[in-house]
Amino acid sequence: MLGTGAKIHIASTKQALVIVFFTLLTASKSYADLAGSAHDFTRFAGMTQNICIICHTPHNANTTVPNSPLWNHAVTSATFTPYQGTLHATPGQPTGISKLCYSCHDGTVAIDSYGGQVGTWYLADSLGTNLNNHHPLSFVYDSQLAVADGSLFDPDSHLTPLGGTIAQDLLRGGRMECVSCHDVHNRYNNPGLLRIRNTYSALCLTCHDM
Ligand code: HEC
Ligand code: HEC
Ligand code: HEC
Ligand code: HEC
Repeated sequence: MLGTGAKIHIASTKQALVIVFFTLLTASKSYADLAGSAHDFTRFAGMTQNICIICHTPHNANTTVPNSPLWNHAVTSATFTPYQGTLHATPGQPTGISKLCYSCHDGTVAIDSYGGQVGTWYLADSLGTNLNNHHPLSFVYDSQLAVADGSLFDPDSHLTPLGGTIAQDLLRGGRMECVSCHDVHNRYNNPGLLRIRNTYSALCLTCHDM
């Protein structure tokens, strides 16, 4: 579905390079389900050029978030209300990949603010900047936390339905993030971009030993 390069209008050499770069990347089957998903921005007027460019660029990427994948989108500078549950973990402000997600989903940055341009189209139904009404994230989830909590699986030894351990399949640098539950590229083709389909709470029960 992504092999539609021929239809894309090539406006400049820079854009052509971008397209070539991503055509190489998209040769892998694993991105096929991005097309047609909630993150297929080509369905919106004025964003038809390229499915990847809103989030990634091969050149001059935004490096303000460590380990971000060649980021091309404006990054949120919002201050979030911290999570205040009865946790053993101590989550603070969103970091890492979660900060990249919030760069559209907190509603403070326009979706079409990418590649240096300032956009005008904001998510109508955003998650906002209050972390209290969402699953906690951006904290270390390790064996010690599992022991302290008492009803979490050990992330270094417990296997997920995807085949690896929780740490391998769901954590980023040992941390719990948005992408612990969601796959931004819809590679698993589950409702809600989930990594693991949540039938009978299968996603929740991958980490929670209830
Ligand atoms: C909505 C934003 C968004 C779009 C659109 C998007 N990506 Fe990504 N991409 C991300 C994020 C966020 C990560 C980090 C994901 C993670 O760690 O799970 C990532 C990671 C990657 C990586 C690093 C390896 C990996 O899979 O984690 C590659 C390669 C990549 N994307 C390629 C692409 C290509 C090619 C396209 C277009 C077909 C694309 N992306 C579209 C946001 C996006
Ligand atoms: C990738 C692993 C993982 C997945 C998947 C996951 N959780 Fe969690 N969850 C955690 C960790 C780690 C904590 C922090 C526990 C602690 O600090 O004691 C947590 C905390 C919680 C808490 C405690 C909040 C509080 O304030 O005490 C609830 C409730 C919860 N998760 C529900 C869910 C539900 C519902 C799902 C499925 C939609 C889910 N979790 C999926 C890892 C996960
Ligand atoms: C460039 C902006 C942008 C970024 C970055 C982004 N999203 Fe989205 N996301 C959207 C838009 C737009 C929608 C569709 C909203 C709609 O149609 O109302 C969406 C929808 C979703 C949905 C709902 C899927 C469904 O089927 O209903 C999930 C889940 C989601 N995003 C998770 C993430 C996660 C996780 C990240 C980071 C890894 C992320 N998003 C990064 C713009 C973004
Ligand atoms: C613990 C697992 C978990 C984490 C962490 C998580 N989500 Fe979700 N999210 C879910 C589940 C489960 C759904 C419901 C999906 C469905 O059934 O369609 C969902 C739904 C959504 C939706 C659809 C609209 C809505 O509000 O229901 C969006 C957008 C979304 N998540 C974005 C994010 C973003 C962005 C992050 C990080 C800031 C994140 N999620 C973190 C599990 C999670």
